[in-house]
This record gives sequence, structure tokens and C-alpha cells, in this order.
Amino acid sequence: MIPPSKTRERPGGQPQAPEPGRLPRLLPDFRGAGPVRLADHLDRYGPLVPPVRGYRDELIGEVELAGLAGRGGAQFPTATKLAAVANRRNAVVIGNGTEGEPASAKDKVLMAQSPHLVLDGAVAAAGLVGARDAIIVAHPAVSHLLTEAVAERHQARTDRVRLSVIPAADAFVTGEASAVVHWLEREVAKPKSTPRRLSERGLRGRPTLVQNVETLAHLALIARYGAAWFRAVGTPYEPGSMLVTLAGAVRHPGVYEVAIGTPVGAVIDLAGGPRSQLGGLLVGGYFGSWVDPVRAADVPLSSEGLRVLGADLGAALLAALPADVCGLAETARIARYLASESAGQCGPCVFGLDAIAGQLERLATGRGSDLAALRRWIGQLRHGRGGCKHPDGTVGMVASALREFDGEIDRHASGWCCGVSGQTSAFSPPTRRNP
Ligand SMILES: Cc1cc2nc3c(=O)[nH]c(=O)nc-3n(C[C@H](O)[C@H](O)[C@H](O)COP(=O)(O)O)c2cc1C
Ligand code: SF4
Repeated sequence: MIPPSKTRERPGGQPQAPEPGRLPRLLPDFRGAGPVRLADHLDRYGPLVPPVRGYRDELIGEVELAGLAGRGGAQFPTATKLAAVANRRNAVVIGNGTEGEPASAKDKVLMAQSPHLVLDGAVAAAGLVGARDAIIVAHPAVSHLLTEAVAERHQARTDRVRLSVIPAADAFVTGEASAVVHWLEREVAKPKSTPRRLSERGLRGRPTLVQNVETLAHLALIARYGAAWFRAVGTPYEPGSMLVTLAGAVRHPGVYEVAIGTPVGAVIDLAGGPRSQLGGLLVGGYFGSWVDPVRAADVPLSSEGLRVLGADLGAALLAALPADVCGLAETARIARYLASESAGQCGPCVFGLDAIAGQLERLATGRGSDLAALRRWIGQLRHGRGGCKHPDGTVGMVASALREFDGEIDRHASGWCCGVSGQTSAFSPPTRRNP
């Protein structure tokens, strides 16, 4: 807990911390209603007292002790990012609530149900890096709810930090950190082709901290209750809880909050278990990995645990593929979607992803694909060939499909497909192109 001496004076003393092992931490106990209002939010968590100047390094040390890692896909240590921006002049905080991935819902649900926790996190982050402004870039489906929450706080004079909310551009790559900055600067929803370190020169040249909105919500709780409280759930290396989207062939698709390290099978059971026999599980989202659902059942849902399957937490999406939907066809659909979402700025991304999607389509429909060329292109695009990680993420997912659906490849070559022709799973991407 941040000691009271290091925070502004607060009437009423420290808030009573919720039971540390109890979930949910981020989402309301009873879901389904609209967003939690400010008064109810303060009843549950107590007031947030922003850190005072002079103690930032120590307080960032508390975040480091907590072991908070980013929830936007890369699991980068949050304390390292805070330290890189802290004490630079004219810093700004951006909460990334773009959530461009079509099958993912965790950030939208969080912003829609617990907007004040996200805003508290933005205020805490601003206090830690000495920023006066915090901007939440929120998916257009929920941005109005955050705007209303900011208005509530203005009326209650809750914050010294200037909070604002900007609707995000709704496309896949627009959530990449430099694309978020680009969107705010010029309404261009593409990653910057010559990205600089945002911590040094980000939004309009200002030192900029970009954190996923779920990361901010966890930060708000660490600022209130401290590192030990935060670490009461999760694993020693990956502490805390996380929001997971369960999509596809589960009985109750939706967003669930689980302790990091909960076995994958137990997480799927929270969503009522599989709706039918499963033919595959996509872990981590469209940049994730296909794995065998039976093998995955006992594996802890953590970056460390998933490594045995060659997978990672990524965007914290578990998408269950019914056994009667072809995994290769599903992969071809996702790859085509990701190719069409390229921002069109880097040759390997534009031409490479299109070629890979084309080969997968041929493979999935038994039209004679060149598997050797497909594997070669995957190898070539794997390591940082684009201005951002869009190609790396896409080919990682495709490579995992070739591993996981290996047995299907020969059968497709001879015109036999395991799936009902033309059937798509519930998490198939929409067919759309970047404007
Ligand atoms: C193509 C692409 C899309 C991304 N989309 C999102 C997104 O929608 N939301 C998000 O928080 N991070 C997204 N990221 C990751 C961000 O670049 C950035 O790492 C993240 O917002 C940092 O926050 P964190 O450290 O709290 O995870 C994306 C990255 C790439 C390469
Ligand atoms: S790699 Fe693709 S998505 Fe990323 S900047 Fe280049 S063209 Fe845009």
C-alpha cells in the first residue's frame, strides 16, 4: 500500500482493502447492469489518492514489487514503462482501449462496467510520471460511457489531472501504440512508419506513456492496496488477476476474470464448458497460437505455463473451435482478414501477408498449395520485417496452425476436408478492409 505520508492528505484514512484473494477485482460483483457510478465505485474501493511528487521512484518501486505486466498483448513490465517516462517534462498518459481485435471483448466490458477504475488508473499513472493530462482512447462502442464517467468526476471535482476520452478508430492495427498516437495527432489510424521511442517523443513530441486500459485498472488497485495485496492471486512470476474473453464453442461466451495460472480447462468451465466437441483452441487471439484443447486443459493460463504448448497469453482470448469446423479454413479466414487489415505501409506486410493468406486459402480448399513456399514466407516474415508487429503476429498464428492441423494438410491436398463446407465458427473475423 502506498504509505499515507507519500500521498496527499486524505480525509477518512486508508480505504478498507477488499479480501485480497477474492475475485472479481476489476469487474462488478453483479454484472449485467450499466456502468458502476462514481458513488458506488468509491463505496467499493475507497478514494484514490494520487501519489505526491518526490516519492515517484519509491511508488514506481511498489508497482515493480507488484510485478504488474501490461495486459495489451506483450506483457511488458509496467514499472519499467513508468520509469522511462517519469520526471520527463510535459509527459502525457494514454489509456489504450482500442481493442481492435474483433473476437476480443475484455477491454470493452471493463470500460463499460468499471469506467471509474480505468480512469483512476489513468490518474494514478499520471501521478507516477508527473503528467497533467491523461487521454483514454476507447472503442467507439463504449467511449460515451467513459465520457459520462469523466463528466461525473468533473462535477464531483475528483481529479487534478485533465482527463479526456477520444473514440478509437475501429480497425485491427489501430490499437498498436504508435497508431494510437497517430490517430490522436492527425486522425490517421496507422502505425507510424518511423516510430520513435514514445517514452521520449510521443504525442506531439511529448514523453508519452501508453498503457492498456486493463493495465491501468490493475494499477489503480495497486495504488490503493499495494503490492502484497495484488500478489495474493496469480503465480509468483505472473501475479494478479486477468480478464479473459471466451469465444466460440463454449456454452456462455463472454469476459471472465481469473487468477493468472488458473488451468485452461477450469477457465473454459467458467464459461459453461465446451458447447460441442472441440477441434482446436486459439489461445491469445488472432496473433496467438492454435493448440490442442485436451492437452491445454491442465496447463496454467500464464505466459510461463503456456510455453509448453508454444503459446502465449497475448490478448487473453480463448477461442474454441467446434470439431466440425475446419481449422485450416478458419486459419485461412483469419489470415485473409489480417492481410486485409495491413496498414499498407511496409512491403513485407502488404505482399507477404496477402501471399500467405492466398496459399492458406488454396490449402484449405484443396486447390494445390505450395507448402514449401508457405513455410519459407512464414520464416521470412517472422522477425520484425514490418514497421510494427502485425506481420510477426500473423505468421506466428499461421505457423501454429500448420503444427496443430498437420494431420489435415495431406487430407486437404487430396480434396478431403474435416469441416462442414463453408461453415464458420462463432469467432470468425468479419470480412472487411482498411479504408
Ligand atoms: C497490430 C497491433 C495491434 C494492437 N492492438 C492493441 C489494442 O487494441 N489494445 C492494446 O492495449 N494494445 C494493443 N497493441 C499493443 C500496443 O502496441 C501496446 O503494446 C500496448 O497498448 C501497451 O500497453 P500495456 O503495456 O499496458 O500492455 C497492439 C499491437 C499491435 C502490434
Ligand atoms: S507492418 Fe503492416 S500494419 Fe505494421 S506499419 Fe507496416 S504496413 Fe502497417
